[in-house]
Amino acid sequence: MSQSEAFAGIAACLFDAYGTLFDVHAPVRRLAGRIDGDAEALGALWRQKQVQYTWLRSLMGAYTGFETVTAEALDHALAVHGIADDELRGDLLAAYREIDAYPEVPASLAHLRQAGMPVGVLSNGERGAVRAAAAHAGFAENLDTVLGADAVAVFKPDARVYQLGPDALDLPAHRIAFVSANPWDVAGAAHFGYTVIWVNRFAQTRENLPGKPTGICARVDVVPALLGLGRPAGLDAAGNPV
Ligand code: LAC
Repeated sequence: MSQSEAFAGIAACLFDAYGTLFDVHAPVRRLAGRIDGDAEALGALWRQKQVQYTWLRSLMGAYTGFETVTAEALDHALAVHGIADDELRGDLLAAYREIDAYPEVPASLAHLRQAGMPVGVLSNGERGAVRAAAAHAGFAENLDTVLGADAVAVFKPDARVYQLGPDALDLPAHRIAFVSANPWDVAGAAHFGYTVIWVNRFAQTRENLPGKPTGICARVDVVPALLGLGRPAGLDAAGNPV
């Protein structure tokens, strides 16, 4: 089957939020000058623990909202790095609430919608937080749907979260393109039944888990082309607005 045939029946596009639309390393980068030590390692551990805690809390039946998990993961990372700075902690969490989008994201989502493709988010984040961050990043008006794990009090890759998409869009999962940069989310969504596009921003190695992506690209601005909908205008070859 050719690439365009594989995506022929797609009737909506759902995006993972953090890591796919939003740059999860932006908050630490923004405040790096105030971090005593290896800011990059702190940021990587924060993200690693945030994601791990969502999986572990799901297995434990101990759901709490993504914003709390994010704070708990940050506290762990700060403790590992020997940093006790309440003001920095508060500012990092505030920066996470106003997290930067990757530069190509607003034009890409706008292009998809102009091409007639409904666009939404399906995130482990809380719906209110995702909407607020999207508004801050300037693309809230390009989202038809925002779905969040808080609706079912469990996190991806639990099937109850993925099921929110077909339920909200009234489409079978295989007719929805699910787009994620997180390899574990790619596997989870494909295993659930979505047609998955992996935005492999960081040239990561595929996870050895059930569920394979149908398409792979390096940035969100390539997604419309994979779906046969052309290229967004207003971006240079590197995906930056011109
Ligand atoms: C999301 C995070 C986990 O679901 O990437 O948005």
